[in-house]
Amino acid sequence: MKALILAGGKGTRLRPITFSMAKQLVPVANKPVIEYGIESIVNAGIRDFGIIVGDTAKEVEAALGDGSRWGARFTFIPQPEPLGLAHAVATAKDYLGDEEFIMYLGDNLIKTDVGEFVREFERHRPAATILLTPVPNPSEFGVAEMDGERVVRLEEKPKEPKSNLALVGVYLFDKRIHESISRLKPSWRGEYEITDAIQGLIEAGCEVRSHVVRGWWKDTGTVEAMLEANRLILEDLEPRIEADVDAESRIEGRVTLGEGTVVEGSTIRGPVAIGKGCSIVGSYVGPFTSIADNVQLVGTEIENSIVLQDSRLSRVPSRIEGSLIGRGVTVVCQGRVPRSIQIVMGDSGSLSLP
Ligand code: TTP
Repeated sequence: MKALILAGGKGTRLRPITFSMAKQLVPVANKPVIEYGIESIVNAGIRDFGIIVGDTAKEVEAALGDGSRWGARFTFIPQPEPLGLAHAVATAKDYLGDEEFIMYLGDNLIKTDVGEFVREFERHRPAATILLTPVPNPSEFGVAEMDGERVVRLEEKPKEPKSNLALVGVYLFDKRIHESISRLKPSWRGEYEITDAIQGLIEAGCEVRSHVVRGWWKDTGTVEAMLEANRLILEDLEPRIEADVDAESRIEGRVTLGEGTVVEGSTIRGPVAIGKGCSIVGSYVGPFTSIADNVQLVGTEIENSIVLQDSRLSRVPSRIEGSLIGRGVTVVCQGRVPRSIQIVMGDSGSLSLP
């Protein structure tokens, strides 16, 4: 079995972060989100990966390398335009050949290991296996209409959903999916939908199996979802302190502090992941916060947030909460009067003041 990881797409919902980086590389608990999926698939014994890339191809290739880090072989497959998940599969047709494959959306995270689904697929050899999970807002997802255990219909972002079971971004297919994709027409949103291709399999009388996944699943396509994924991963954090922590500082709960990081006169209340080479001075870092490498925090309180590398937050007068802060960002309070604020922010940035 091969793996197909989708790491192209537009990432419009995660702007402005995605103006300058691939959303699949945004770190969750200080590890790029795409690596969780790769690890789960490698653990299932799969070594051959096709990775669909788009505008951010260079960055994704540089970050992942040739796969040897995981004992795997990566083949990068450029998708000329992000015309949908089924279009991505069609783009990879030559790479996939007649082999069965697991397809994994590079910005998705599931807690359950995929190994059990791979083994089950190999035992039963259906045309497709889909994973489902109950969600409160099904009209934002691909939704399955069920008759008992049997999938009757799939619909992409339905206005009137027939169930609350959303399709998780992990699928298993055999070669029959290619024929179904070749018959597709673009949907109302102009994309070649994988849900329509699977619906085509059902209509052709092919077996489509489904599983309701037990653990959580997150599509990290929005800031809120990214922060929630960060919370979920940090829940299982293994504490590890490699930093210099002075006597005035307090480290509570599950915290990782990377090499070369210095903590002075600060409180860090886990679960919190802080990378290498950071400087945390006179600050408070609260639960569910991930801080990447070489970040400086001075006189600042932050919680439930993600800060990417090389950023500097200094004497921010209010606690930062629920925030996703990009690479090399500077937020500094000069403490001068009059209390005016100066903003230099790129397109689609958002600033919320009390
Ligand atoms: P989506 O999140 O559905 O699409 P998107 O990345 O374009 O984001 P947005 O809706 O915010 O504009 O894509 C799911 C995953 O599949 C993601 O990792 C990107 C990838 N993808 C492709 O590789 N090719 C495609 O044509 C599409 C639509 C997505």
